[in-house]
Amino acid sequence: MSRVIAIAGKGGTGKTTTSALLIRFLKKSGKTPILAVDADPDSNLPEALGMSGDKTLSTVGSTRQEFFDTKGDVPAGMPKEAFLELKLSQALVESKSIDLLVMGRPEGSGCYCYINNVLRKHLDHLGNNYPFVIIDNEAGLEHLSRRTEQNIDTMVIVSDYSHNGLRAATRVKDLAEEMKLDIKSYNLIINNTPVSVSPQFQKEIEDTGINLLGFIPHDEQIPIFDIENKPVTDLPDTSPVVTAFKTIAEKLF
Ligand SMILES: Nc1ncnc2c1ncn2[C@@H]1O[C@H](COP(=O)(O)OP(=O)(O)OP(=O)(O)O)[C@@H](O)[C@H]1O
Ligand SMILES: [Mg+2]
Repeated sequence: MSRVIAIAGKGGTGKTTTSALLIRFLKKSGKTPILAVDADPDSNLPEALGMSGDKTLSTVGSTRQEFFDTKGDVPAGMPKEAFLELKLSQALVESKSIDLLVMGRPEGSGCYCYINNVLRKHLDHLGNNYPFVIIDNEAGLEHLSRRTEQNIDTMVIVSDYSHNGLRAATRVKDLAEEMKLDIKSYNLIINNTPVSVSPQFQKEIEDTGINLLGFIPHDEQIPIFDIENKPVTDLPDTSPVVTAFKTIAEKLF
């Protein structure tokens, strides 16, 4: 059985950074192999993991579009579903302990029902091969209604140190509950926090009713890594965000 952890929250709060820190932790703890899913059309998880190598790699979205545009024109003698599955499997970027799937652009207009049915089955099947599946979502709520997403065991909502971040976190939980999504637990991480967190903000966190996993401090090394194109996963063990994340991860696993 795999454990599916989805990262969600408002734009720019640190979802991708948190996903990469989580994957870094799992890798270092030997909890592998990991399937990393970049579900943000404005993809940047590959860079955060140092797996961006070949920019021309196909994504799930481009495969789906290609199949749609060619009306499923399959090689003679090959079943349509098997061909689509083969194409989808080519979108997986493999490495020693982390495999990466970039979802890419969402579907265009038209009926993608057949393709999405195959895709859903493919993702479920693929996910079962990994003890851990980490999904880095796009900002906002849209992804919750996207039916290609797998069942989620653990939802990790990332907020920054702001009222808006917490309000957005609450909306994610409320909508997911309203939609009766089968999510086993909702958790909160506050990222990019100052040295001390005000009692008023602490109170606001409690008022969300979401289980607080912990705080990730602002770390000057992160923007430096970003500018130097270094992956988040290469941050040293002594980095303040890495040590803060260790405490968080202990509550998750
Ligand atoms: N703890 C931190 N300290 C310093 N900088 C940070 C920290 N966390 C994230 N950042 C920086 O903040 C920016 C936003 O982070 P990130 O890309 O992880 O957010 P996101 O929620 O995935 O954004 P988006 O909604 O665009 O997908 C990035 O430039 C990242 O390097
Ligand atoms: Mg992101």
